[in-house]
Amino acid sequence: MKKAIPKAPLVYPLPIALLGVEHETKVYYTTVSNLSVMGEMPPIIGVMIDKKRAIMKQLDVGSMISINYPDTTMIDKADLCATVSGETFDKASLFTTDYLLETPYIDECPVVLIAHIIDIVSIKRQRVFVCEVRRTLIEDTLAVDRNIPSMNILDPIIYGRDGKYYKIGSVIGKTSLEGRTLYQDIKKHMAPKPYSFHCKLKICQEKDAGKSYRKLAKAYDVYHETIEDWYALYTMFGREGLTKAFAHKLAKTQFTKAEKADIVRRIRSGELTYRDACQRYMVSLSRLRNWMKKTR
Ligand SMILES: Cc1cc2nc3c(=O)[nH]c(=O)nc-3n(C[C@H](O)[C@H](O)[C@H](O)COP(=O)(O)O)c2cc1C
Repeated sequence: MKKAIPKAPLVYPLPIALLGVEHETKVYYTTVSNLSVMGEMPPIIGVMIDKKRAIMKQLDVGSMISINYPDTTMIDKADLCATVSGETFDKASLFTTDYLLETPYIDECPVVLIAHIIDIVSIKRQRVFVCEVRRTLIEDTLAVDRNIPSMNILDPIIYGRDGKYYKIGSVIGKTSLEGRTLYQDIKKHMAPKPYSFHCKLKICQEKDAGKSYRKLAKAYDVYHETIEDWYALYTMFGREGLTKAFAHKLAKTQFTKAEKADIVRRIRSGELTYRDACQRYMVSLSRLRNWMKKTR
């Protein structure tokens, strides 16, 4: 059971970032959490800004901006930048500003993206700034595991949309490892059993539709020859030829040594094919092959 709460763009968790831009030698910083990944290659990020924000006037297509991720030790400054407007207070005075590609960024933030605004989408009171990432900077003292430091090391401030800030907890798993065991388990229990009637029928129908024995053997992990036998039974006796009861019937038919030898001889001489013998004497193809082998 679920209950509805007032509708909200609930994507979570959201990291807090400080957006930075320079306009006519003045540097502006504003806290944002409405950030989203819009592309990986090229790396594109969308930032949503309300029209009322002072920083809005400084942003346009072609502007270079910085997206600065503060760590939890910077919570007071990040929160101040989220509640006081640049029109009443110079927020840049809170930080040491450095420059890259002529773009101001916050030196104290462990991760900084330098980006270029390539498009703006207007949605009611808001503008979504589509930004292409030009540089990704991380503090050089941070331990780097395959280029991206662990979230616990980056220690971002997480916004909960419930009016509270959070911090990252513990690592609980690794990508493409956690689901693997579950997937293998499901595959083992749920995969169609290749020797069931339905699976045999499916394989024969796929053969009818033109798939090769080789492809079917690979797809269902069944010997090529086994599929040939099933298909022979299917074409001779129809669906019934694939049932267990029919297999028992073919396995139970009794023959004397002389009868067996006669059948083998007739197959050898070309008087009968395996299929003819199977149909006429109601004996399975595998038994026939066995007799041939033994007499050889
Ligand atoms: C946690 C948090 C996240 C915020 N995220 C955004 C945001 O994504 N976009 C936005 O326009 N305002 C956002 N705000 C509000 C601005 O940070 C705030 O209005 C700020 O004072 C604007 O500064 P400015 O007028 O100097 O631009 C957020 C506020 C908080 C508390």
